[in-house]
Amino acid sequence: MFSNLTAPKQDPILSLSQAYRLDQRDNKVDLGIGVYKNSDGVTPVMQSVLTAQARVLEQQTTKAYVGMAGDEEFNAAALSLVLPDAAVASRASSIQTPGASGGLRMLAELIAFSNPGATVWLSNPSYVNHQPVMEAAGLKVKHYRYFDVATKQVDTSALLEDLAKVKAKDVVLLHGCCHNPTGADLTPEAWKSVTELAQRNGFLPFIDIAYQGFGDGLAQDAFGVQHMASNLPELLVTSSCSKNFGLYRERTGSAIIVADQATHATNARGKLLQMARTTYTMPPAHGASIVKTVLLDNELKAAWQQELEQMRLRLVNLRANLCSELVERTGSHDFDFIQQHKGMFSVLGFAPSQMLRLREEFGVYGVDDGRINIAGLREKDLAYVASSIAAVR
Ligand code: LMR
Repeated sequence: MFSNLTAPKQDPILSLSQAYRLDQRDNKVDLGIGVYKNSDGVTPVMQSVLTAQARVLEQQTTKAYVGMAGDEEFNAAALSLVLPDAAVASRASSIQTPGASGGLRMLAELIAFSNPGATVWLSNPSYVNHQPVMEAAGLKVKHYRYFDVATKQVDTSALLEDLAKVKAKDVVLLHGCCHNPTGADLTPEAWKSVTELAQRNGFLPFIDIAYQGFGDGLAQDAFGVQHMASNLPELLVTSSCSKNFGLYRERTGSAIIVADQATHATNARGKLLQMARTTYTMPPAHGASIVKTVLLDNELKAAWQQELEQMRLRLVNLRANLCSELVERTGSHDFDFIQQHKGMFSVLGFAPSQMLRLREEFGVYGVDDGRINIAGLREKDLAYVASSIAAVR
């Protein structure tokens, strides 16, 4: 049965973590996979999460099945974190998914079921797993221009020019905030312009929001999602608790459908549940129990928000300090864009061969597309990483 299978291509992000683990050098630095690390290089369990987890374990009386949609209290709480407006919530539905990757796949399958010939438009570049997930669901993929490699900012006019050509009922995948991999985000004005295009041309926006709270703040980062949800008849959203709750391995995410009327949102959710049943039946419960415990307790929620804000501010500082180190080592302001980017990532504008040099000569692990994870930096790595980048540029 399996003799005709060949070894598949390795995942460009997950394979890096493996290579990093095997690297014996003491000065190696992991700027690959998108996880937050503290000054000691540890991905901590947040204090609010530990408190909620203790409460969950203390109060849990059963491990019986939950249901195909997961925990409904989690679903409501996670939905209101992204879309707090009651009018929007009244025509929205959501299910708990195994991480936002699970949400991406479920919603991609829903698109394929509802509109079999649909094309999904991805930003160029986009998260390395977006295209494989869309194609795995049988969807066609095209790209719209997004990132200006010269300025390292969003090329808004090129983006709008490309999106103006997207046909009705095709899908445009957008990053809610903290664009992966570039770190360059849409401005509120650009969100409004894309929304107007969607209104005019009838394409369906699909927003992946995996880093809410790491850009400009929890509320600010949801501007685009909220603006689109309020102004468009339909919207798909997948959100993640991996990063902002630090629950990476618990696989806790949501798939959200906003429809023109409540019954349509409910019917679409029914289809998602049917697909869940034939895929994994129901999502894992632990992470969702923790998130719901945090979000439904005002004191815990405030403590969580404070911890998240501290992480965000530390990232802002790391960006500023990496820039100063780079100015010092290159005698130029070529890397100042790092300070303008949002969230965990920036792309350096390096070719794969330069990323390979960073890895092989300096033990600095970034993704081949030029992405580095600022949230993987320890303060004590800054000078070394800056020297390595300066040597390779
Ligand atoms: C990343 O982009 O590094 C993360 O979202 C992890 C992943 O699953 O790829």
